[in-house]
Formats: sequence, C-alpha cells, structure tokens
Amino acid sequence: TLWARLTKMTAGKLDYSNKIILAPMVRVGTLPTRLLALEMGADIVYTEELIDLKLIKCVRSVNEALGTIDYVDPSDGTVSFRTCELEKSRLVLQMGTSDAERALAVGKKIQYDISGLDINMGCPKEFSIKGGMGVALLAQPEKACHILKTLVDNLDIPVTCKIRILPNLEDTIELVKKLAGTGISAIGIHARTRDERPQHSPHPDVIREIVKHLDIPVICNGGSRDIEKYTDILKFRDLCGASSIMVARAAQMNVSIFRKEGLLEMDDLICRYLKLSVDYDNPPHNTKYGIQSIMREQQETPRGKLFLKSQTMQQMCDIWNMGDYCRQKELELHTKGTFGRRKVIP
Ligand code: FNR
Repeated sequence: TLWARLTKMTAGKLDYSNKIILAPMVRVGTLPTRLLALEMGADIVYTEELIDLKLIKCVRSVNEALGTIDYVDPSDGTVSFRTCELEKSRLVLQMGTSDAERALAVGKKIQYDISGLDINMGCPKEFSIKGGMGVALLAQPEKACHILKTLVDNLDIPVTCKIRILPNLEDTIELVKKLAGTGISAIGIHARTRDERPQHSPHPDVIREIVKHLDIPVICNGGSRDIEKYTDILKFRDLCGASSIMVARAAQMNVSIFRKEGLLEMDDLICRYLKLSVDYDNPPHNTKYGIQSIMREQQETPRGKLFLKSQTMQQMCDIWNMGDYCRQKELELHTKGTFGRRKVIP
C-alpha cells in the first residue's frame, strides 16, 4: 500500500542507543537464532560474520516459498545469507573485510535488505588475521578508518565496527576516537585484548573510560561469563557505563537470556528453535549445532545421545515430538515448488 511505502521511505535509521543486542557469532547467528532472539526480547540482532569475498559472489534471490531473501553462492547453490521481513528493521549484518572497495560493493548490493552494516575488527582467528581482517585492522588504523569512511560516505544505512581493546588505555582511546571520526553510528567494544581468551576476565573499567571520550553509543561486550539471567545483562552494561550491550555466549547457550520474564525451559527453547529451523528450511547441520549449543552436558543423556546420531531435520524433530509438523511443512514447501535452499531463483 501507499501508506506502507511512505512509512518505509520516512522510517528512521536504526538507533543504537539503549539497546540489548544479539552479538555476531559464526554458525550461531543464522536466521532461526536471530528470529528467536527478537522474539525473546533482543532489540537488535547481528548476523554471523560474513566474508566480503563470499558475499560479492552471491546472487540475491527472492525465495517465495519461504518468504525470504536469499544470497546464494552460484558456484554450489548454497545460501550464504538468508533473511526475511520480520527481522529487517532490527538486523545488522557483520562483514569481514580488509578492503574498502570490496566492502562497499557488498554494502551497496545488500543494504536495502538490512538496517545496519558492521565491520569485524575484533576477530583474533588465524583465518581473519592472515586475510588482514578482524583484529588485524586494529594494527592498521588508517586502513580501518578508510574502510569505515568509504562505507559511511556511500551507503544509506548506518555503519559500525566491533573492536577489542588494546593493551594500553591511552592507545585504545586514541584508536576509538579515530574510528568514531569516520562518522560511524556506534561502536561495539569487546572488553578484552586480542590475546585474551574468553575465560579471561573482561575489563569493564576500560570501557567506562572510553565512553567518556565518545559521543556515539558504545555497545559493550564480553560479559557472558557472569550473565546467567536477564538482569545480569543490565549489570554488565552498567558496570561498563555503556549505552548498549551485546551478548554472545550466554545467548548461544540460552537465547531466552533476552527474556525479561525469565529463562525458558530447555525443551521449550529447543522446540521453538526447531520450529523456526523447519519454517525457514535451515540447513540441518546448522540446526544440529544450534541445539548442541543449547544442550551442552545434556548431550550425555540417552536422549542427547540419540540426538547426536540424528542427521536430518525430521530425525531431530522426532526427538522433540515435532516430526509431524516437520513432515507437513516439508510437504507444503514441496507443493509450493521451491524447496528452500535447494533451488535457486535468480
Ligand atoms: C564469537 N564472536 C564473534 N565475534 C564477531 O565479531 N564475529 C563473529 O562472527 C563471532 N563469532 C563467534 C562465534 C562464537 C560461537 C562465539 C562464542 C563468539 C565473539 C563474540 O561476538 C563476543 O565478542 C565474545 O564471545 C565475547 O562476548 P560474550 O560471549 O562474553 O558475550
């Protein structure tokens, strides 16, 4: 309708202040997890890190059977990124890149399917560093700023980056000021250095200092060790003195951490996650990983062992008494003529 179109045109840009956010997580942050996080109360959700070289090859296709937009790798037909209207206004795509022009090409292609673009400047994995991506960019602030400024100046959506702190406070403050100077809309800060591991204590006090020097929202991160319930999220945010917070591991294990009313039972959570996985034809190996993250030590139980043997969506659904739902839905999708990820409509 005209009204819908007008609303869209005049809709404000994504506001990053005072938000509780699902942090970017490889393999975890796919569509079912993101939708569930929003349902549970997250304000904004990030995709898993998607590499620019991969996205640049992808073809955008409208998947009418599923009601999704798919970015499909034409070489093998796999879906690199799937999204839908439900999440669009609250969705940030995180990109791994080391090149401004390439990042911009991807940004231009994808910007109207998302609400924000984030650049990963915090990943310490060898794959990222070798490619000049992730935390490697923190050692090259000029390059990092060039990438951000190119995106800010040429895209219609807000741009952000996610970094780690440096070993020294003054250096960190100097760095974030430079990054903020590019015109980014917010900055995500994982309160650990590149060499600190998840089990090390984070440094909320460092974020507290950084915040004083910036006038854009700071999204603090790194508190999951001490996040066991919703109010712990607010506690870590307040400890950091930050406007917003993003949660990774605590949400990976239990995405109902975003639920103000309290955590859901494990089986309830798994059923909801399975339903979304079926509805959006999520790849079974990805759904399996998601459930393993939720079950953890429960994988040792007889049911857990049965689950570990499962390979198809139907086998997984059967364990939680959702087999009929799964079969009915798969039949429906077949009837519509497009079976999710397997068929590409260019
Ligand atoms: C991550 N993290 C991460 N960070 C990022 O910027 N892009 C990514 O794709 C990923 N992938 C990822 C996968 C998994 C399984 C985990 C556990 C973590 C790091 C994550 O976003 C966060 O910075 C840290 O986990 C610290 O926050 P928490 O876990 O203490 O809330």
